[in-house]
Amino acid sequence: MFMKHTATALFAAVLAGGFAVTGAPSFALAAEATPAGKSAGDGIFTSDQSKRGEEVYNANCAMCHQPDLGGKEPVPELAGDKFLAHWLNHNVGELFTRVSTTMPQGKPGSLTHDQYIDVIGFLIDANGFKSGTTELKADSDALKTITIAGNH
Ligand code: HEC
Repeated sequence: MFMKHTATALFAAVLAGGFAVTGAPSFALAAEATPAGKSAGDGIFTSDQSKRGEEVYNANCAMCHQPDLGGKEPVPELAGDKFLAHWLNHNVGELFTRVSTTMPQGKPGSLTHDQYIDVIGFLIDANGFKSGTTELKADSDALKTITIAGNH
């Protein structure tokens, strides 16, 4: 009897403590983030978009990152294990910002948003994620909800 009450009281105290520390707003945020969140494996770009992105890549990126995306010291590869080691579990918004604000190296920001988002679609394709029926859009808030994860 005594033991049971103690355990119940302890449980209640832990619960109360948990609520006090985390607070209601973070619970609400977590609940909102889950249904909106997608992963790169969910068919987030179309194959037409990837083809356009490949043209952008060939004209603006391949001279450094190589036509097969394999890179060449000191230029890093953009497809494969090393690339994914940098980007897995980050979100597509971070990759979009990284590319659109620092690439092409020496001429950052020189492409249009459409060209940048198409080339991101091409990179996601080249890393083995499947295409879908909806194009990836250059909307930073939406891109932040897509995690680079899933089947590839
Ligand atoms: C003049 C050569 C050059 C061009 C052109 C260029 N890059 Fe890069 N890129 C680099 C170098 C060097 C690095 C590594 C140093 C750095 O991060 O700035 C890099 C890094 C990157 C990274 C980070 C890779 C990682 O593993 O985190 C991405 C992504 C990238 N480039 C994409 C692109 C895309 C897309 C284009 C075309 C729109 C492009 N780059 C054009 C030289 C270039």
